[in-house]
Amino acid sequence: MPAIVLIGAQWGDEGKGKATDLLGSRVDAVVKFNGGNNAGHTIVITTGGKREKFALHLLPSGILTPGCAPIIGNGVVIDLGVLFEEIDGLNARGVDTSELVVSANAHVIPSYNRTLDKVTERFLGNSKIGTTGRGIGPTYADKMARVGIRVQDLFDTDVLRAKVSGALNLKNQILVKIYNRKAVEVDAVVAELSAYAERLRPMVTDTSLLLDEMLSAGKTVVLEAGQATLLDVDHGTYPFVTSSNATAGGACTGSGIPPTRISRVVAVVKAYTTRVGQGPFPTELLDEAGDRLREAGAEFGTTTGRPRRCGWFDAPIARYATRINGVTDFVLTKLDVLTGLAEVPVCVAYDVDGVRHDELPMTQAEFARAVPIYETFPGWTEDISGARTLDDLPRNARDYVLALEKMIKAPISVIGVGPGRDESIAVRDLI
Ligand code: GDP
Ligand code: IMO
Ligand code: MG
Repeated sequence: MPAIVLIGAQWGDEGKGKATDLLGSRVDAVVKFNGGNNAGHTIVITTGGKREKFALHLLPSGILTPGCAPIIGNGVVIDLGVLFEEIDGLNARGVDTSELVVSANAHVIPSYNRTLDKVTERFLGNSKIGTTGRGIGPTYADKMARVGIRVQDLFDTDVLRAKVSGALNLKNQILVKIYNRKAVEVDAVVAELSAYAERLRPMVTDTSLLLDEMLSAGKTVVLEAGQATLLDVDHGTYPFVTSSNATAGGACTGSGIPPTRISRVVAVVKAYTTRVGQGPFPTELLDEAGDRLREAGAEFGTTTGRPRRCGWFDAPIARYATRINGVTDFVLTKLDVLTGLAEVPVCVAYDVDGVRHDELPMTQAEFARAVPIYETFPGWTEDISGARTLDDLPRNARDYVLALEKMIKAPISVIGVGPGRDESIAVRDLI
């Protein structure tokens, strides 16, 4: 004990990477429990006065902290090419990745699922999800349909061949007959995946057992989510979601530790809202105010480079995240991005067809029609990037934080005032 779950409260890109990295030096392991290289975490580290930027996709954010064991759990889907590219990239910059362990039960993303992700999106036309095109959805679909390929399958060529052949029986029908593509050869896929087997083998272990041993020995473990609450396949804005459970419940299924091990649930939330891809977004700003947030917050995707859709803070969403995840602490990020605004509006409820909703409406059809009801807070002009305590913040910034805290029904324990590791205010200890 203890296991700390760290999740995103909105539609992703809240700053989970920075939050995990902040805890890194005080934790023994960081586990990635869901998603794959659809995630993108930017971490900024200052060493000897030099600012260095790291973009992580598949590796847990703890990888940048010496002594913190990075673990890829069973709930993750792995693009093996990306995994080794990321490892090589970090090694070239002097980051030690030798402690990385990978669950034998994690699924791998074969290239045919990347193809299917892209052609399905094209086929959907205006109804597309706006996926990252990394093969995430088709790989999780295979897992549920019981035709997925797992890490452990790579170490026995006969097993691998049988699994690939089983999966391609149906996939090739879809590729050829629906999408008018060429059939994929079993041998080619077996060769593609086997090419990584030898290098992968020493990293593979029973990560559930390893975590049980660590927790029983009193070690501290962070379970870090990719994506976020509103992108969760069960609790998000379905169908405009990812294909895994990004909420706190997913931390148990995706890592093989029981709920009784979890002592704390930390949610990362931005001081405004962003979203990438399609789907409803009540507080979205399609005018200069949105452009201003995008510019000031550098809101361009870490993974796809797409401009992020930007809008004001949505309190019902964050409160929903508190409920679904059992949030014990919030990390409020990017407060500095709001500096310079005369007024800061916050969505406190929605109007749906003339009826006020204080919580998220029951159906997605209603949510898509939700019109925000705003309360407006006075802004501030002072540079807050140097603030290290609540008292260092200008009064209006502090009042904004305290007002949000009341609305979201859980304490704000850390406040981000810049991208750097040191640019935060610790109100309460997270461990
Ligand atoms: P993640 O996917 O949740 O890890 O978030 P991303 O890394 O995709 O996006 C968050 C971005 O905000 C990154 O570029 C971070 O460096 C940056 N960031 C995190 N916290 C803060 C903060 O408090 N202030 C500012 N200005 N940037 C931040
Ligand atoms: P991090 O971990 C923001 C979005 C995609 C798309 C939808 C489905 O950096 O917060 P997928 O490729 O997963 O099938 O795409 O989910 N999406 C993200 N948006 N941050 C992410 O991760 C995301 N991962 C997926 O844009 O709308
Ligand atoms: Mg991101």
